[in-house]
Amino acid sequence: MAFLQEKVLFVWFMFSLTSGFTSSRSDHYTPPNLKHLTELFPRLKFNQGFKESFGESNIKLMDNGSFVNVTLDKSSGSGFVSQDDYYYGFFNTAIKLPAGFSSGVVVAFYVSSFFSLSLMSNSEIFPHNHDEIDIELLGHQNRKEWILQTNIYGNGSIKTGREEKFHLWFDPTEQHHQYSIIWNSNHTVFLVDNVPIREVTHSEGISSAYPLKPMSLHCTIWDGSEWATNGGKDPVNYKYAPFVASFGDMQMEGCKWDKTKQVPFCVKSGQGLSILDPVEGEEFAKLSQEQKMGMDDYRKRFMIYSYCKDPRRYKVLPPECNR
Ligand SMILES: *[C@@H]1O[C@H](CO)[C@@H](O)[C@H](O)[C@H]1NC(C)=O
Ligand SMILES: *[C@@H]1O[C@H](CO)[C@@H](O)[C@H](O)[C@H]1NC(C)=O
Ligand SMILES: *[C@@H]1O[C@H](CO)[C@@H](O)[C@H](O)[C@H]1NC(C)=O
Ligand SMILES: *[C@@H]1O[C@H](CO)[C@@H](O)[C@H](O)[C@H]1NC(C)=O
Repeated sequence: MAFLQEKVLFVWFMFSLTSGFTSSRSDHYTPPNLKHLTELFPRLKFNQGFKESFGESNIKLMDNGSFVNVTLDKSSGSGFVSQDDYYYGFFNTAIKLPAGFSSGVVVAFYVSSFFSLSLMSNSEIFPHNHDEIDIELLGHQNRKEWILQTNIYGNGSIKTGREEKFHLWFDPTEQHHQYSIIWNSNHTVFLVDNVPIREVTHSEGISSAYPLKPMSLHCTIWDGSEWATNGGKDPVNYKYAPFVASFGDMQMEGCKWDKTKQVPFCVKSGQGLSILDPVEGEEFAKLSQEQKMGMDDYRKRFMIYSYCKDPRRYKVLPPECNR
């Protein structure tokens, strides 16, 4: 997880530099009623597609594996990972975050090629060449709100951090909310409760930094003290442990990666093998006008950091910023 530590440290450093950059937030936000992509696919139980990745004694299955509680305590964080790798897909989970003091606690939902077994067994993996699409929820001491951070890497483009950070319009510790990632050859989209909050188009601008390796899905909780929260000033306080996050409504739909043949094969729910990749359909290839408007409005109100608006960090902005 060293790569995670590196980048989070950097992000918090940048965040402290840019803390003057605030959103014009509205407390009277009603999310638009957009297409419910999360209603299109079956929800998976733990043993229908996942396995423990670390901190096994801190993972608890509930409701026959429909929900998974992952705990961070003094002994360990914990997490689980998809059994398969995917080459494009739609990934969703509902998360309820730990209530109370949460400084330094990080809850993450991400796809990454870093631990991709198919590549590793082929010894093709270069730790600095990996692809990743991140949703990270960052606990905070002083603000009541958790912060949602998104990031995207291709081919190990870690030096060019492409972070964007957002406030949420709800208290994420009260109930479960849906967090989703669309990833295909056209674009990558981050969504919260079916509202798109960020779109990264697979354009010439971003070219080789666009994720194009098979990736596995990870759900984790871990201690971000060393680098998060003002450079370690407000570490995880284990007086308030255990910190428990609940994951449910797990959905993974798209092209699984065939490790033997090293090709993607696409499965459409209920129909077995199919050449039609359900995430390449029109509604996954581009955002509708309504979705675009919903996204623009959300970003205007709730975005608190974008690398594209950080000239102190990038004297020359990454090419995809100049749209
Ligand atoms: C639990 O889930 C499995 C599928 O993962 C299913 O086969 C089994 O019948 C379920 N058990 C109960 C009690 O619902
Ligand atoms: C699972 O985690 C959620 C979120 O922290 C919590 O509300 C719930 O009580 C937990 N359930 C158990 C059995 O630990
Ligand atoms: C999505 O990308 C594919 C090629 O990967 C292209 O054929 C298709 O036209 C694109 N769709 C949209 C809506 O841009
Ligand atoms: C990926 O990065 C390596 C250097 O780390 C470079 O040699 C290679 O050309 C890159 N691949 C692509 C597709 O840009």
